[in-house]
Amino acid sequence: MERTFVMIKPDGVKRGLIGTILQRYEQKGLRIIQARLMKVSRVLAEKHYQEHRSKPFFPELIDYITSGPVFAMVLEGNKAVSTVRLLNGATKVEDALPGTIRGDFAISTTENLVHGSDSAESAEREISLWFPDAFTSSSSASD
Ligand code: CMP
Repeated sequence: MERTFVMIKPDGVKRGLIGTILQRYEQKGLRIIQARLMKVSRVLAEKHYQEHRSKPFFPELIDYITSGPVFAMVLEGNKAVSTVRLLNGATKVEDALPGTIRGDFAISTTENLVHGSDSAESAEREISLWFPDAFTSSSSASD
């Protein structure tokens, strides 16, 4: 079993797509371990996206991610990291295939509805950043 950090971004929340997006993850067999609707501070946003700090789109990205509530969660399942990225679809809007969340619903590369950790290492870092009280990988929601 693997865990990953997933976020429905402000455009997904504003557009009323939380249920539709969650259904895709759940239908695939991923389990929601933690979830929180929350407003993101600039400090948290900048820490989360620290690897993009030098990119030209960084200021726009931080403005966007702090523009309204996000739905942050930890999902668990077999190969959860790669499965979520497959379901999310390509980051670039023009590459996101129909059948993926971005391919079906997103119209912009920045406002691309969802985030999923890009590796097991990133997942660990992001889960501890967003859910500092989260239990360790050996426990479960029923513990
Ligand atoms: P995410 O998967 O959360 O990881 C980094 C985010 O930066 C990405 O989704 C997009 O929201 C945004 N992003 C990535 N590439 C670009 C780009 N070329 N132009 C604008 N925004 C981008």
